[in-house]
Amino acid sequence: MEIIILKNAERVAATGAELVSELLGARPDAVLGLATGSTQLALYRQLVERYVNGDISFRQATSFNLDEYLGISADNPQSYRAYMDKELFDHIDINKANTHLPACEEGQNPILVGPRYEQKISDAGGIDLQLVGIGGNGHIGFNEPSSSLGSRTRVKTLTRQTFKDNSRLFSENEVQPKLAITMGIATIMDARKILLLATGKNKAEAVSKMVEGPVSAMCPASVLQMHERVTVLLDEDAACGLKNRDYYDWTYLQNESLKKRFRTFHDE
Ligand code: GLP
Repeated sequence: MEIIILKNAERVAATGAELVSELLGARPDAVLGLATGSTQLALYRQLVERYVNGDISFRQATSFNLDEYLGISADNPQSYRAYMDKELFDHIDINKANTHLPACEEGQNPILVGPRYEQKISDAGGIDLQLVGIGGNGHIGFNEPSSSLGSRTRVKTLTRQTFKDNSRLFSENEVQPKLAITMGIATIMDARKILLLATGKNKAEAVSKMVEGPVSAMCPASVLQMHERVTVLLDEDAACGLKNRDYYDWTYLQNESLKKRFRTFHDE
């Protein structure tokens, strides 16, 4: 795992946006795996800014989101489709027909959504770069603790903690879903590169378990230790529980100087 600890959330977003931009520059038809949640908002703002400035284009890109609530329709402002439109898609030149979420249409059997989503990802050639956040309980996507490390896109029941964590985003008269359809852990692990962002003290415990704990289904993010190309971008708060902090900073400095000398160092 490449662990990069930055001064604040804004630097995390800027570094994330730089990595996405580098990919789009090298491969304009990249397949992006996207995530929702408040952590990603600053990153999406930066990407929109770069698009508006003419630095990047999403015209040929395809996207697959990690997850979507089950039981609310796409036009519900609480859906992840609405979030993606509002925060990113409506402001860039991506072809919306090429943006995908594992949504279950009215009357559709949710059991069938997962395998179809997997097929679509594979038909698109697989995901080049998967953005991921982390839940306070170590979940990635909506793969809650005890999710199979070999899981594929499917219906998941949210834990009470996740339900409570996300309740801040729902008003009293809105129905908050208890179910979601999420890419599985194996689906996420298939991505060619993974970029995880975490900011804030409330993520510190999950981050330390993910990076320095054992690989365990009880902290689904810990499976990322087994992926060949993972970059973890943290702010100081999210990194405050890491014991091996000195080493991560030291490694970052060495990698930066290598990157300057050999531009493609990270892509080999
Ligand atoms: C939700 C999403 C996750 C996200 C997590 C953290 O549960 N399904 O993909 O990583 O929230 O969100 P936040 O960034 O708001 O803390």
